Amino acid sequence: MATLIAVLAGDGIGPEVTAEGVRVLEAAAALAGLNLELREALIGGAAIDACGEPFPGETRALCREADAVLLGAVGGPKWSDPEASVRPEQGLLDLRAAMGVFANLRPVKTVPALYAASPLRAELLEGVDILVVRELTGGIYFGRKHREVDWAEDVCSYSKEEIERVLRIAAELARERRRKVTSVDKANVLETSRLWRSVTDRLFASEYDDLELETILVDAAAMHLLSRPADFDVLVTENMFGDILTDEASMLSGSMGMLPSASLNAERRGLFEPIHGSAPDIAGQGIANPCGMILSVALLLRYTLKQPALADEIERAVYAAIAAGTRTRDLSAAGTQSASTRQMGDAVLEQLGA
Ligand code: IPM
Ligand code: MN
Repeated sequence: MATLIAVLAGDGIGPEVTAEGVRVLEAAAALAGLNLELREALIGGAAIDACGEPFPGETRALCREADAVLLGAVGGPKWSDPEASVRPEQGLLDLRAAMGVFANLRPVKTVPALYAASPLRAELLEGVDILVVRELTGGIYFGRKHREVDWAEDVCSYSKEEIERVLRIAAELARERRRKVTSVDKANVLETSRLWRSVTDRLFASEYDDLELETILVDAAAMHLLSRPADFDVLVTENMFGDILTDEASMLSGSMGMLPSASLNAERRGLFEPIHGSAPDIAGQGIANPCGMILSVALLLRYTLKQPALADEIERAVYAAIAAGTRTRDLSAAGTQSASTRQMGDAVLEQLGA
């Protein structure tokens, strides 16, 4: 039976980068003799335009049935009126909740070929290899929201179970890496963070005492990511802190366009998406960096299709294409010629031998 992959291109640069991700996925499947069935569906602003809602029933049904979901990006100025009753981003949040993908893995790596694209000095970037595990289906994103004309609230809540299950994923991944976990919270101010910290301390003392545990406050973490990025191995944190810290950390790798993500549920079925948004300022120009999407395809092969060698091969191909000089505008020095989205995809396919 074919493995079913739902492809949700979304808005802005979503369709452009998704097209390259799909080409690489199909080429990789052909190389390895995998039987995949790709089915497209609408999400976000594109779905609002077509049927008035950002996560239509048809898309929900497909994503429930699929073995994995590949997603481009959602959102854009057309749908961002703060008074609007439906928003593209809600479609993505509903999708994450519907799939129950509570653990969002965001690897941040540096390669010498891209040191110059980062605002940080090369000496700080050497050896950076961080795996951020962001809790994805709880916290302030999903708490009660209330709005009156001149007053609003967003509630942040976490249960012990929600905290424990994401910590376990982080700990287990750390056992396959450098055996260090940094848990990030704001326990000096937030009650949810005090719970987070006590659950962490207890869990690591009882079940993961073979791992080094570091706990730091989120404001300090924002600083340490710039002052000592190579010291981190697995960094685990709640939903919104993880959102903010991964945009910051993406600049270590040279560009936000480089970062992939894998969001896994209890059955390790997954949602795979680059961490960047829909980038309306460059949408439709064919210049977006597809590497975050292509690296997300690698994560899909690694985690859902259990093809680690193929995933390694795609990651190698991306970095080889960049090292050989193919770079989209976000990775290029000012005034130099840069590659289009399609040319970047072509270069990766060439490195793959596809
Ligand atoms: C991300 C994005 C989303 C988030 C938005 C589009 C809802 O910023 O995946 O990081 O905040 O989670
Ligand atoms: Mn984000």
